[in-house]
Amino acid sequence: MKRIDQKIIDQTLELIKSQEREGAGNERIKTIVNRLLNDLFNAMADLDITSEEMWKACDWLTQTGKNNEYGLVYAGLGIEKFMDDMMDWEDEQVGIHNKTPRTIEGPLYVAGSPESTSYAELETEAEPDGERLYMSGVVRDENGNPIPGAKVEVWHCNLKGLYSHFDSSQPEFNLRRAINVAEDGKYEFKSFVPVGYACPPNGSTDTLMKLLGRHGARPAHIHFFVTAPGYRKLTTQINIEGDPLTFDDFAFATRPELVPHIERIPAEDAPKYGKDEAFAKIDFDFNMVHEVTDAAPGENHRTRATVEA
Ligand SMILES: [Fe+2]
Repeated sequence: MKRIDQKIIDQTLELIKSQEREGAGNERIKTIVNRLLNDLFNAMADLDITSEEMWKACDWLTQTGKNNEYGLVYAGLGIEKFMDDMMDWEDEQVGIHNKTPRTIEGPLYVAGSPESTSYAELETEAEPDGERLYMSGVVRDENGNPIPGAKVEVWHCNLKGLYSHFDSSQPEFNLRRAINVAEDGKYEFKSFVPVGYACPPNGSTDTLMKLLGRHGARPAHIHFFVTAPGYRKLTTQINIEGDPLTFDDFAFATRPELVPHIERIPAEDAPKYGKDEAFAKIDFDFNMVHEVTDAAPGENHRTRATVEA
């Protein structure tokens, strides 16, 4: 089929733009929306996208909003990954090396986790079938020195692959804690080895992934925000070594530097580590970078779930 005349596309774009009033509204939004409409209309023409398909898309977008799944769609389509790529590139341009790389936050953080100093136990509700995990390390600056006063926020899913708050069957803040490190910069937490999970079955993301011939599953991982006054916020994750999906993550979050070795300590050796049972052990240091004015900030202000104290 012959492509629609470019003149019709351009005239329509001009007509839309003609309604904008000088000095009113937001120039940045005008620029972005006009550019996206331009790209969309040209794609509609190039690919002969039908009105039937456009209204299907509209229905899907509506449902995605109702399901509160846009955060997941950003992850699954690689948009969140690309935002990381852009920030990494900006960092490189100004000579910043993130020894601990950033990776996606995902949509399941909840602000206001219980705080403690140096050590935390993540299970509000015991997970009796879980494999005991102790993860520890030091929060360090660019020179390897500990950063007293840093905060390590950690969150992961339960053995059903579900996160507290979003899964109302779990107690609030189950598997979510905030650890303030002392002078030595050390943190440690006790939990269990989490499992991988998939997007909600038959939800908008799952539907889209199936239409793309893709799976919607993530390998087992643990999320972190690491913050300290004067340093850029570090948003990252670690993967559980050995998960078959480690390098086949539907959210593209895996980075080789974020797959620490997991060591299995048998019960008879546990006392050497001051523990009283067999456990999986992960050692991982978080390396932070001082705040700089000419690079991408570590923080963004997306809307996040929160629980009133
Ligand atoms: Fe996650």
